[in-house]
Amino acid sequence: MLHIALSKGRLAKKALGLLEKCGVDTTFVDMDSRKLIFEDEKQQLSIILVKPSDVPTYVERGVSDIGVVGKDTLMEQSKLLYEMLDLGFGACKLCIAGPVNKPQSAITNANLRVATKYPNVARSFYSSRGQSIDIIKMNGSVELGPLVGLSDVILDIVESGATLRENGLAVQEEICDSSARLVVNKVSLKTKAERITPLLEMIRKALEA
Ligand code: PRP
Repeated sequence: MLHIALSKGRLAKKALGLLEKCGVDTTFVDMDSRKLIFEDEKQQLSIILVKPSDVPTYVERGVSDIGVVGKDTLMEQSKLLYEMLDLGFGACKLCIAGPVNKPQSAITNANLRVATKYPNVARSFYSSRGQSIDIIKMNGSVELGPLVGLSDVILDIVESGATLRENGLAVQEEICDSSARLVVNKVSLKTKAERITPLLEMIRKALEA
């Protein structure tokens, strides 16, 4: 059995579409149900739908052989796994954003207060420029931070920019690009090479086409 972990939501739908293009029948996965694990005996394929931030854990621990997850999540977690392919979809940027018309230079706190779902990325970004910060770890709706006075800025992904715009925030600095990546468990790449290698080849070709 080949085990795949997909990030619930934005990325799962596109990942399933890509697998279909590669000749994998994914009709046994019902994205609208509350079911978490889908198995197809005929194809010897099992797909789980999990929170994006949990995909690297399933793959690192070998519960899943393959995962599809955003580069942003991989950067935050530094797990032991192979990042094999940039799938292109789910493109966004990791950015620092703050209130429109209030640059970071106008902030007078000793430590810049940064609300984020990515504390490790924030720590490394600001320490590389020698700036000490106060990290406020959030789990969602990070944009609220500066609006309610919890933080001065946010570090978050920006895709369309709509969430920032609708909340009176603007990008101050771009940190890096992110997109969906295909990751593989280190042991599975060897022990299930006969399944994984051809699949990777088909995905590579589908991406080029
Ligand atoms: C993400 C991210 C931003 C938003 C960016 O949140 O944290 O809030 O999407 O997308 P946009 O630039 O297209 O507006 P998500 O929707 O995953 O929900 P969350 O805030 O609950 O984490």
